[in-house]
Amino acid sequence: MARHLITSAIPYINGIKHLGNLVGSQLPADLYARYQRARGNEVMFLCATDEHGTPAELAAAKAGKPVADYCAEMWAVQAELARGFRLSFDHFGRSSSPQNHRLTQHFAGRLADAGLIREVSEKQVYSNADGRFLPDRYIEGTCPNCGYDKARGDQCENCTKQLDPTDLIDPRSAISGSTDLEVRETKHLYLRQSEMRGKLQEWIDSKTDWPILTTSIAKKWLNDGDGLQDRGITRDLDWGIPVKKGAEDWPGMEGKVFYVWFDAPIEYIACAGEWAEAHGKTDGDWERWWRTDKGADDVRYTQFMGKDNVPFHTLSFPATILGSGEPWKLVDYIKSFNYLNYDGGQFSTSQGRGVFMDQALDILPADYWRWWLLSHAPESSDSEFTWVNFQGSVNKDLADVLGNFASRVTKFCRSKFGEHVPEGGTPGAREAQLIADLNAGLGDYERHMDAIDIRKSATALRGLWVLGNEYLQDAAPWATFKQDPGKAAMQIRTALNLIRLYGVISSPFIPDASAQLLTAMQAETANWPDGAEGALAALPAGHVFSVPDVTFRKISDEERSEWQARFAGTRT
Ligand code: 2FM
Ligand code: ZN
Repeated sequence: MARHLITSAIPYINGIKHLGNLVGSQLPADLYARYQRARGNEVMFLCATDEHGTPAELAAAKAGKPVADYCAEMWAVQAELARGFRLSFDHFGRSSSPQNHRLTQHFAGRLADAGLIREVSEKQVYSNADGRFLPDRYIEGTCPNCGYDKARGDQCENCTKQLDPTDLIDPRSAISGSTDLEVRETKHLYLRQSEMRGKLQEWIDSKTDWPILTTSIAKKWLNDGDGLQDRGITRDLDWGIPVKKGAEDWPGMEGKVFYVWFDAPIEYIACAGEWAEAHGKTDGDWERWWRTDKGADDVRYTQFMGKDNVPFHTLSFPATILGSGEPWKLVDYIKSFNYLNYDGGQFSTSQGRGVFMDQALDILPADYWRWWLLSHAPESSDSEFTWVNFQGSVNKDLADVLGNFASRVTKFCRSKFGEHVPEGGTPGAREAQLIADLNAGLGDYERHMDAIDIRKSATALRGLWVLGNEYLQDAAPWATFKQDPGKAAMQIRTALNLIRLYGVISSPFIPDASAQLLTAMQAETANWPDGAEGALAALPAGHVFSVPDVTFRKISDEERSEWQARFAGTRT
């Protein structure tokens, strides 16, 4: 039994994620986790909320709540939506957990001991009225370029010009509006990642099987960008992980916290500790996933993320791990994604454009979305959600090809033979052909799933559903039944077993529909098939089943137009 550690990029706490976020990390990670479990492998699938930094503070302030309360509430909302989409995390943690506090401080201590951290003195805006340093985006003023009076210290939203807080005319605090600001000297810690260029280069060069999207971004940042410049890992904020050297105070760093991008990936590890605590397990139980000196050397670790996250996972986080000098597990394979666009534009959280996870589940069950999103995953290029495409894919693939097959077969059997697998007849040439085709299709499907080629996997799975339809069309048991009821019984027995097989192999993509089919077939086992011949003999003559409710319904043209209009604007 192989062991798979799987993590999805951890979503920011501020707000509900849209379908573009979902298909860029959590959903494909879930597909892979479900597949590996279905193949009988041991899986640890982790995700969490990314709770620190300015965006969390700002969102909490906007909601009029203390930031800790806001994060706790939003964690619960995101956890509930994850359940709604059937994301099968072994644990959904929080980057603000005590485990992550300890581990982040531990890593910082190790890096300091290894001489990989230096202190830098910087000038930064201090607000006397607020009694704190202001990050660039907490300073507002008039844009020197276009005159917009709500420009932020990092960028003008109106003309998009990148700004420095000192560029602003009449600067004021975005927190209190106070203009009593001054520039003060403040100290920060920098991670000397440039020292690790050689090690990182060697490590990335050794990953010859990574997807082109991942390696091209990694190499670009490593070689010609500013990607490996030393990086500030502390901030003058209240909300975050206090800067400490292990358990000890860090002189001169009082009142400061670690930068959110320093602690977020460390949460991948801390999350396993949270899992252990939640399940009454020992440290050894989670360390066997993460420490190569404690049993993790046979673990295969796969990360899922959007392309914008790749530099942090190929350079910064590995720099933290390698720099620690401790035997933590490094990622084996990084699956990254392009962007999903929405109906002629971009999905946008800040502008509320597109369909968000809660809205999607309000109109249709998870499997409808899972199927469309995964079968259109933005792997080799950006892809686009349109309502016409969504309707077409649901109505054809799910309702016509899969759902209708299950419905026709079970209803026909009930009317002619009753609700049990019928006896009689002997499989012939057409059944032998079906078995050969299924075996070839299963081989393709497994190969693509193993390689995490998601669109190709969806096409292969759909192809397996199509084989059942073609078989039913050729066998035509409704016609056979008139001349040779025994033969029709054999054909229906074959088709009922196909329904069970579909329940097993479709579960990574559409877990609810798969469970419904397996329940209707009263399947006692749902083991991954060794081959089609055995799978088609799993339900013997006499085995009782029931006719499933509608597995997938069609989307009408009226619904499609209504939803398109409803989601054309922006969410408030
Ligand atoms: O882009 C994002 O949504 C980030 N919150 C991802 C962090 S992934 C990791 F580093 F934890
Ligand atoms: Zn401007």
